[in-house]
Amino acid sequence: MKRGPALWVLGALILAACAEPRANATPPEDPGLALALRFECNRCHALDGAPPPALDADCVGCHRAIADGSFDAPAEALRDWTPHVAPLAHAPSLRGAGLRLRREWIEQFLLHPRDVRPGLVMTMPRLAMSEADAAALARWLAPSPAPDEPLDPSLVEVGRALYRAHRCARCHAFDGSGEEAEALDPLAPDLRHARARMPAAAIVAQIRAPRSVAPDGAMPALVSDDAQARALAAFVRHAPLSAPAAAPPAPRLPLLERPVAFAEVEARVFSRACWHCHSDPDFARGDGGPGNRGGFGFAGRGVDLSSYEGIQSGGLGADGVRASLFAPGPSGAPRLVETLLARALEERGGAVPGVRGMPLGLPALSAEDVQLVETWIAQGRPR
Ligand code: HEC
Ligand code: HEC
Ligand code: HEC
Ligand code: HEC
Repeated sequence: MKRGPALWVLGALILAACAEPRANATPPEDPGLALALRFECNRCHALDGAPPPALDADCVGCHRAIADGSFDAPAEALRDWTPHVAPLAHAPSLRGAGLRLRREWIEQFLLHPRDVRPGLVMTMPRLAMSEADAAALARWLAPSPAPDEPLDPSLVEVGRALYRAHRCARCHAFDGSGEEAEALDPLAPDLRHARARMPAAAIVAQIRAPRSVAPDGAMPALVSDDAQARALAAFVRHAPLSAPAAAPPAPRLPLLERPVAFAEVEARVFSRACWHCHSDPDFARGDGGPGNRGGFGFAGRGVDLSSYEGIQSGGLGADGVRASLFAPGPSGAPRLVETLLARALEERGGAVPGVRGMPLGLPALSAEDVQLVETWIAQGRPR
């Protein structure tokens, strides 16, 4: 069991990191920026005007520092952690987001986040955001939207040939191309969304001069010819798409016959997918994670999933009263299980009213992992 000691080393490092003051101390004058800092958007995204938070709060930045070896920890610890954190070390930069994204699309996306990048493990979390907050943030991110202009649909086949010739499928998924993506760059969007997200001029610019609309972007400049860029953009916007395949509903597996002890559930679920947002604040000093002490705009719910005792101690309801995580929720299943099932539904574009899917912003647990958790609860949550 490498995990225990490795986590203790991490706890000590977080403690050291917390000696630095938190960057978000004084609310800024700009109301849009103040809102972004209230929701702590900068824990995952680079933002104009907002410094990254202190390292103990910087979800993506800390993972990136570990993955690129710049995090101050023993080499052995870095080696152990890297395979776990490398897939969680990316999120798109929002610097200049309004140069490429439509304001209305941002607003709708904040209210109903969806998966845009098939090669990226994290997704935009479903935050507790009002329509007014979403509109204000979208206005702040896209202050001067570019007018749209038509792209010539008769160029689709020219664009398709260029798409093949430049091997755009090295990085991008795009159903309209009829080609399988080769590698899926973690930050490369599925191009089926571009027609809704981007004004025409931004699609052309993204292809011809990527840095002009994505200043922190990673797309190489492949096409310098304006006519070629317009044909590619027409292809991205107008190529016919098949309806997205409706993923089959996740099966709910029957309870296991064998005994299930806490150590197995902790290793497969809690310490892998939950701990970083639901930890004991005495251990992960100063923060304790957004699911425990609050963060990302959520009030603290006091849900500690870092130990057996923490899990038994429940969490605060909306009324501020502590209740068991295992009491039946609206569907009759234990509350904790309901959050896991809700996440699977969110991934297919749905939502369960009153239940936020967990793990927040991360892939739903497999049916086998949910079955393990349900079996452990049904067996009386043995140690
Ligand atoms: C826990 C990490 C996390 C937090 C906090 C977070 N985001 Fe995101 N956000 C992501 C990830 C990951 C993506 C990429 C999702 C995808 O491509 O499927 C994303 C995507 C986006 C996008 C689309 C950008 C693009 O290029 O596709 C916008 C806009 C956005 N977030 C705005 C916000 C705002 C505003 C906040 C604060 C209110 C916020 N995010 C908080 C992780 C986060
Ligand atoms: C101070 C650095 C640091 C910060 C801040 C941090 N993490 Fe981590 N994270 C790690 C390390 C180290 C690991 C690997 C632990 C291990 O391998 O035992 C990890 C692992 C994870 C994992 C488990 C991945 C797996 O497959 O095992 C998730 C999920 C995760 N982090 C999410 C988050 C989120 C969400 C945030 C922000 C709320 C966050 N982390 C903040 C350092 C950090
Ligand atoms: C090496 C990987 C790579 C290749 C090859 C590549 N792209 Fe990209 N592309 C990206 C990344 C990463 C982004 C996200 C923005 C950024 O980082 O600049 C992106 C963004 C885009 C966008 C914006 C989509 C959106 O919804 O935000 C379009 C359009 C696009 N690429 C078209 C193309 C076309 C057309 C080609 C072929 C000529 C191509 N790309 C080749 C990596 C790549
Ligand atoms: C990225 C951070 C994050 C991760 C990862 C995460 N949570 Fe949460 N969790 C939260 C936040 C934030 C809340 C508070 C949500 C709210 O108030 O609506 C929460 C709330 C909860 C609640 C209380 C929900 C309720 O309505 O009673 C449960 C139960 C829960 N999480 C379980 C889990 C489990 C189990 C996992 C791992 C499979 C997990 N969480 C992973 C952030 C996270």
